[in-house]
Amino acid sequence: MSNALITGANRGLGLECARQLATAGHRVFLAARSLDIAQQAATTLPGDVIPVLLDVTRPGTITDAFAQIAATVDTLEILINNAGLYPSADSNPVTVPSADMVQTLLTNVAGPHTVTQTFIPLLAAARPNACIVNVSSGLGSFEYAAPPAGEFASYIGTCYATSKAALNMLTLGWSKHLALVRSPIRINAVSPGWCRTDMGGPSATRSVEQGAATLLHYAQLPPTGPTGLFFGPEGPHPW
Ligand SMILES: NC(=O)c1ccc[n+]([C@@H]2O[C@H](COP(=O)([O-])OP(=O)(O)OC[C@H]3O[C@@H](n4cnc5c(N)ncnc54)[C@H](OP(=O)(O)O)[C@@H]3O)[C@@H](O)[C@H]2O)c1
Repeated sequence: MSNALITGANRGLGLECARQLATAGHRVFLAARSLDIAQQAATTLPGDVIPVLLDVTRPGTITDAFAQIAATVDTLEILINNAGLYPSADSNPVTVPSADMVQTLLTNVAGPHTVTQTFIPLLAAARPNACIVNVSSGLGSFEYAAPPAGEFASYIGTCYATSKAALNMLTLGWSKHLALVRSPIRINAVSPGWCRTDMGGPSATRSVEQGAATLLHYAQLPPTGPTGLFFGPEGPHPW
C-alpha cells in the first residue's frame, strides 16, 4: 500500500485520482484549501482518505500539512501536484489583469515547487521509490503553441500556458537535481488531456476518469521508469 498526497483534490481530476487510489487500497491525503471542503470531499470516497488543509499559495499551510502527514506516516510514495488555476479572463494578453498572471504563477508554479521542497524528506524515505506528477497541460507545450503550425496557434491562455510551460521547466530542474543526488524519486510533467471538469468544461474530449488514469499511471512508476519527461494520454508529449 502506498501513501499519496494530492493537492486540489476536492473536485475534478484531483478528486478522481483520490477516488481511484483509495479504491485500489492506497492511503490518500486529500488536500484542499479549506479543511471543511477537504472533509466533505473525503466523505464521498471509499477507503483510507485523510483530509488535509493545504493551499499551495500559502506556505504556512504547506508546512502544517507536512507536520500532520509526517505525524501519521513515515513515507510518501506518491505526490500529485494537481492544484491549478486557469483565470477566466485569460485569452487576451492586452487586457488580462497582471494580478491574474501573478496568482496563476503562484498557484501553478511556485505552489508545486514549495510542496515538492517541503515533502522531499517523506518522498526520499519511500521504498522502492516515490513518484511525483506535476499536472501539466498541452497548452504548456512550446511545440504545440509555436508558429508556424502550432496546434494551439490561435488561443493558448496567456497566464495559464505560461505557467504550465514554467511548470515543465521546473520539472526538468527537479529531475536533474534528483539524478545528481542519485535519488530514486521519479518526477514527470503529465498532461491528462482535455477533460470534462469545471476547468475543462463539458465539451472536453476525455472523461475525468480517463484523465485521472493517465495521471495515476505516471504516479506509480517503478524505479526503472522514466523521469524528467513530459507525457500526455498518448505517451511522450512534445515539449
Ligand atoms: N481539465 C482539463 O482539461 C485539464 C487539462 C490539462 C491540465 N489540467 C490540469 O489538471 C489539474 C486539475 O484541473 P481540473 O480540470 O480538475 O480543474 P478544477 O476542476 O478547476 O480543479 C482545480 C482544483 O485546484 C484547486 N486549487 C486551485 N487553487 C488552489 C490553491 N491555491 N491551493 C490548493 N488548491 C487549489 C481547486 O480548489 P478550489 O475548489 O478551492 O478552487 C480545485 O480543487 C490542474 O492543474 C489543471 O491545470 C486540466
